[in-house]
Amino acid sequence: MTHPSPVICVDGPSGAGKGTLSQHLAKAFGWHLLDSGALYRVVGFACRCQAIALEDSDAVADIARTLDVTFRPADAGVRVWVAGEDVTSGIRTEEGGRDASTVAALPAVRKALLLRQQELARPPGLVADGRDMGTVVFPDAPLKIFLTASDQARAERRFHQLQGMGESVSLARLLTDIQERDARDQSRTVSPLVPAEDAIVIDSTMLSAGEVLQAVCELAVSRELLSDASELRLDPADASGQ
Ligand code: DC
Repeated sequence: MTHPSPVICVDGPSGAGKGTLSQHLAKAFGWHLLDSGALYRVVGFACRCQAIALEDSDAVADIARTLDVTFRPADAGVRVWVAGEDVTSGIRTEEGGRDASTVAALPAVRKALLLRQQELARPPGLVADGRDMGTVVFPDAPLKIFLTASDQARAERRFHQLQGMGESVSLARLLTDIQERDARDQSRTVSPLVPAEDAIVIDSTMLSAGEVLQAVCELAVSRELLSDASELRLDPADASGQ
């Protein structure tokens, strides 16, 4: 293997399928998983709980620096614990996404979280899911994927996901939310959402989750991120997922 502690970066806009792809990749490779969006969500969530204004850069950065957050592997990705409490469902709301995007625009917050993310690159490897994994956090990563899909496809996926969780939402509202969040993530001055120059852009609008997973596994094997392709633990259910 050429990299003792390789990183695969999976960046892209909300709802493009980064979370699903990253979870399946980490499982197939037996690698660690960094859900960086969850870190920003936790910061926003902690600010709400402590009545801290999301625009108060010093106070929010203080939260980001001192946050006692732990990620625990679970069947579906990771569960997120803050100070001994499982906050996974609390941070995964639409409001949680908006708050995360607001605090993520603060340079002091991004600085406070940078080292915490970089420290997670440990053997045998890391799959890092986010917006600036390939551009800022792991610029030397040997494989960078920028996963995208049309606005409509991303809103529809989120709609079905929320419906499956028993939440009633409006597709039009989700589409507006996604477009507003993308605009904020793309236009901020620090670490904006853009593909790294050496990223491979995959448009998943017409692809199933299984097809995307297969394509990225082939790229990883061709770049020798595994010493032996037979190390790949591809679950047929993941490889055929929609
Ligand atoms: O991936 P997600 O939906 O959980 O991310 C929530 C928000 O956090 C997203 O709108 C922007 C921000 N974010 C970021 O700025 N940088 C990252 N690496 C990950 C997320």
